[in-house]
Amino acid sequence: MTEEALQRKKFEFIEDIPGIGPSTAKKLHELGFHTVESLAMATIRELEEAGISEKRAAEIIRAARSSISLSFIRADELLKKRENVQRLTTGSKKLDSLLGGGIETQTITEFYGEYGSGKSQMAHQLCVNVQLPIEKGGLDGGALYIDTENTFRTERIVQMARHVGLDPNEVVKNIILAEAYTSDHQMFLLENCDRIIKENNIRLIIIDSLTAHFRSEYIGRENLALRQQKLNKHMHKLIRLARAFNAVAFVTNQVMSSPDVFFGETIRPIGGHIVGHTSHTRVFLRKSSRGSIRIARLVSSPYLPEGETIFKITENGIEDVEEEQ
Ligand code: GTP
Ligand code: MG
Repeated sequence: MTEEALQRKKFEFIEDIPGIGPSTAKKLHELGFHTVESLAMATIRELEEAGISEKRAAEIIRAARSSISLSFIRADELLKKRENVQRLTTGSKKLDSLLGGGIETQTITEFYGEYGSGKSQMAHQLCVNVQLPIEKGGLDGGALYIDTENTFRTERIVQMARHVGLDPNEVVKNIILAEAYTSDHQMFLLENCDRIIKENNIRLIIIDSLTAHFRSEYIGRENLALRQQKLNKHMHKLIRLARAFNAVAFVTNQVMSSPDVFFGETIRPIGGHIVGHTSHTRVFLRKSSRGSIRIARLVSSPYLPEGETIFKITENGIEDVEEEQ
């Protein structure tokens, strides 16, 4: 096939791409590539793991990319201008504006904070909000919730859905839950979710918590390098899914306090600089002295200034705090 003909050809399944025979397809499936979209975001090195030569890997990736060219390649170019990025509302207008209009697609947003600070509540709220139409701050899509601590509560989703005027029975159908038992299982789930994302029009991928399993399994200095390497790989997979499907990637992270020579004690997110560098937007959540009120601090963002705002967690979900009388 000529380059031009390839350019126009649309492949529905990875098996349709020239150069992918049955045995290669099987290996690619084993590596977690089930859709043309995920192949379009693959790296040559990853395909080499399936025993594919460098040259053929490049051709396959190119064919996959051009196959989704109308929606994807053009989007990728637009991405440079950030025009294709969409935003998902948190439920609080103040928090949305701190984040530049909501949580953006195609990058990772990390909320970190101590227990009870509202990370999982935010995750639940996003699962509901993502199903809202675009004009109401949603993305008109479903959610994938990778739950590592058995946190997910359907009843809470029902409450939140009622409040935003969505049919709770429909809302719960559009949330795909995946319980991760270990860090390896967590990685496996993410590596194999591309087909689920595509088939269910998933526009929000949640990992709650990103780091808990890694933290409890890789103990001690001698395991730190391996832990960081695995976390790094995991985060990169997440970024690529977020880009391929123009989805929001939302992860939660705990904090640890460490003694600091100058400041006495500092609170830091788990995972150090690897999680820090690949999370494009980081928000630090704190409880306040007033029960339901939480303080959100934008700690890092590629282009927004640092800042702080408050919101509250009520029966309805995440809401703005009314102005004081
Ligand atoms: P860890 O996962 O333990 O690190 O904490 P987290 O940051 O995920 O905390 P989470 O989001 O679970 O927040 C729990 C807090 O949300 C509770 O302490 C309550 O204040 C609030 N909350 C949770 N469910 C409800 C609810 O149904 N109604 C109300 N009003 N508040 C709730
Ligand atoms: Mg939680």
